Amino acid sequence: LSVRRLATQQPETFAFTPASAEMARWWMAKYPVERRQSAVIPLLWVVQKQEGWVSEPAIRAIGEMLSMPRIRVYEVATFYTMFHLAPVGRHHLQVCGTTPCMLRGAEDLKAVCRKRFGGQFEVSSDGLFSWEEVECLGACANAPVVAIHDLYHEDLDAVSFEGRIDALARGDVVPPMSALKRQGSAPDGGPKTLNSPELYDGSLAAPIRLPNRPQPQPVES
Ligand code: FES
Repeated sequence: LSVRRLATQQPETFAFTPASAEMARWWMAKYPVERRQSAVIPLLWVVQKQEGWVSEPAIRAIGEMLSMPRIRVYEVATFYTMFHLAPVGRHHLQVCGTTPCMLRGAEDLKAVCRKRFGGQFEVSSDGLFSWEEVECLGACANAPVVAIHDLYHEDLDAVSFEGRIDALARGDVVPPMSALKRQGSAPDGGPKTLNSPELYDGSLAAPIRLPNRPQPQPVES
């Protein structure tokens, strides 16, 4: 369990950008006025997308927008680990450490993060990177997985992971994909089984002899 507290260093104020304010209004309009507080999670997400994290002034602003006590917003923000309560790097690496990823090499990926960036949530000196270990990202068939900007980089090992970090540091666009270049969770190297056409045209099927059905008689010519 991680301790969930607001960062000790907080900005004085928070303001939605026009685009974020519009997105917040869009979410709020999904709920009846008397149920407006239901938009608290989307609004926290909007804030995080704008700022990279959720600050205490932002929590206050959301409380005012939704006419709810700020402590209620705080409770939600501190409960869900998807909300960052302190600034993160421009590229925040979420390394899955749950069992399938751990068995497939997540420890090596965490070692890369520790070596390059220090402990979890430490922001690199250039402000570019930070990392954290997260629970199952739901893509276990492609373990180990790292989410960067909410998109999945799969089948990583230390070398391919460092390659992506180097590319991000250069400012390159690093598209999310399997390091093995497999399609989705298809087998590495293409289909390994059930790839014979005879399996699908019926020619491999053994004739079925049903005991209660008369067998076809040869046709005399
Ligand atoms: S255990 Fe890592 S994606 Fe499920």
